Amino acid sequence: MMAAESGWIEFWNRPNAIYVNQRNLDAHFECLKDDLLPHIPVGGMVVDYGCGDALAAEALAERAGTLMLYDAAPAVRERLRHRFAGHPRIRVLDDPDLAALPADTVDLVLVVSVLQYIPPADLPRLIGLWRSLLKPGGRLLIGDVVQPDTPLYRDVASQLRMAARHGFLLPAMVGIGRLALSDYRQLRQRAGFATYRPDQVITLLADGGLTPERLPDNIGPTAHRASFVGRKPQPAAEPAKVQ
Ligand SMILES: C[S@@+](CC[C@H](N)C(=O)[O-])C[C@H]1O[C@@H](n2cnc3c(N)ncnc32)[C@H](O)[C@@H]1O
Repeated sequence: MMAAESGWIEFWNRPNAIYVNQRNLDAHFECLKDDLLPHIPVGGMVVDYGCGDALAAEALAERAGTLMLYDAAPAVRERLRHRFAGHPRIRVLDDPDLAALPADTVDLVLVVSVLQYIPPADLPRLIGLWRSLLKPGGRLLIGDVVQPDTPLYRDVASQLRMAARHGFLLPAMVGIGRLALSDYRQLRQRAGFATYRPDQVITLLADGGLTPERLPDNIGPTAHRASFVGRKPQPAAEPAKVQ
């Protein structure tokens, strides 16, 4: 694990001020559920990589045959394991479980709001891992990619709009203040916060052997971010033998 990555994983491993209260978390995952459901293959095998607290997991698993949740932060995995113990369709993976997943078995890999925490040098290797898990025809959905030079006010405005709609405007304002005073900004500088132009993501997906496409709308509540699908091609058909 690289130092930058461990900085972010430590951040997500302890309580943080990103979501200001339960209502914020509920509204966030309600939006994710609505945006993701149309992409979930009925009866399919889905891996949610960097799933966070995964409040939409039950709804997604209802549609998918199996939903496998992976998050690099051990405390997040522990909460998920506790919540989903014995769930017939949801499995929580740790690192060895993830490494042991057989190739060519997954219909959809979700990576939503995670790229910013991954050192850019590691991304091609990870795209390779996600691709190897996919069946031919399977899809990698990379969502909520932060674009370079996004002014902070756009994220703040987006959070305040959602807060106003869902009745947590005051806590959201307090939360933004708390975040500004926390070590979050220093961490962004120290650990890095990866951003990509849409054409860069398209190139990364294509270089990783996936057929890339930008989705018309972002997945999640931050409309000015971008989401992409990379489809693993079917193997070329053997040319018919002339008898
Ligand atoms: C902003 S949250 C996104 C959670 C969820 N996917 C969503 O869209 O709400 C980022 C999550 O990614 C996880 N994460 C960060 N770096 C990761 C990495 N290198 N591999 C896997 N998960 C990672 C964090 O632990 C955190 O739970």
